[in-house]
Amino acid sequence: MNDHGIATADFRAIDDASGLRLAMSDFGNRGVLKTRRFGYDGKGQVVFSGTPHADAEQALTELGGRDCILESLVPFESEFSVIGARAADGTVRCYDPSENIHRDGILRTSTVPALLPEAAIDQATAVVETILSALDYIGVIGVEFFLCSNDKVLVNEIAPRVHNSGHWTEAACMTSQFEQHVRAVCGWPLASTSRHSNAEMHNLVGHDVDEAGQILAEPATVLHLYGKAETRAGRKMGHFTRLTPLSHRR
Ligand SMILES: Nc1ncnc2c1ncn2[C@@H]1O[C@H](COP(=O)(O)OP(=O)(O)OP(=O)(O)O)[C@@H](O)[C@H]1O
Ligand SMILES: [Mg+2]
Repeated sequence: MNDHGIATADFRAIDDASGLRLAMSDFGNRGVLKTRRFGYDGKGQVVFSGTPHADAEQALTELGGRDCILESLVPFESEFSVIGARAADGTVRCYDPSENIHRDGILRTSTVPALLPEAAIDQATAVVETILSALDYIGVIGVEFFLCSNDKVLVNEIAPRVHNSGHWTEAACMTSQFEQHVRAVCGWPLASTSRHSNAEMHNLVGHDVDEAGQILAEPATVLHLYGKAETRAGRKMGHFTRLTPLSHRR
């Protein structure tokens, strides 16, 4: 990202305890230690805020002792994401950004329209275009952002696929992120990304799924269950999207 002029949190590669000690000192003993691969839903991450070095080293050991990064703790105002798609001929289309709320490292809600300054939306869209063409990418990508003070936008994470924060598109757009991905990889024209409704997507995490019956009774809500046999705490069991007319203001 940084090589392409895209801002991220400050970070250091961490491969051993001495590297971690140096990085902790640079970041004032605050930051997020992350495994470099296979992390999701906050798994493979430990947050440090004024954490003593010995405890941080213990956390590194628990993450495997190497192949991690330490990111500085970003004092963001909000989080949002943009789902973009690039076709074989280089055409790029982006859905409207969603404002995302996470709890315990797990995405809980994605709301569209996001309450964002125009400048932030413009920056984020340009960033997605840069990433897609730099990677010569074909398909759908999810790009997660932090909105910081003075409308500054940082990239948090890229997901080279359809993304949970884009699940609202199946309910609120003529063409979902899933169809858009198939169109892109099959060499078909990309569809319009416009919305026919405002949307609020909620993940059903663990026993939230027990509310499915009540959710089904809502007249303007689309429910999607994943059919997982066992309900476990912290496991994503499904999601639903509440729709409201475009004329409704947040
Ligand atoms: N450097 C940071 N500063 C502040 N908060 C952070 C930072 N990194 C991550 N977070 C918080 O933790 C959440 C999860 O982090 P991240 O998106 O890196 O991980 P993930 O577990 O791979 O998530 P996903 O399930 O989206 O793939 C972020 O959405 C954000 O709320
Ligand atoms: Mg993420």
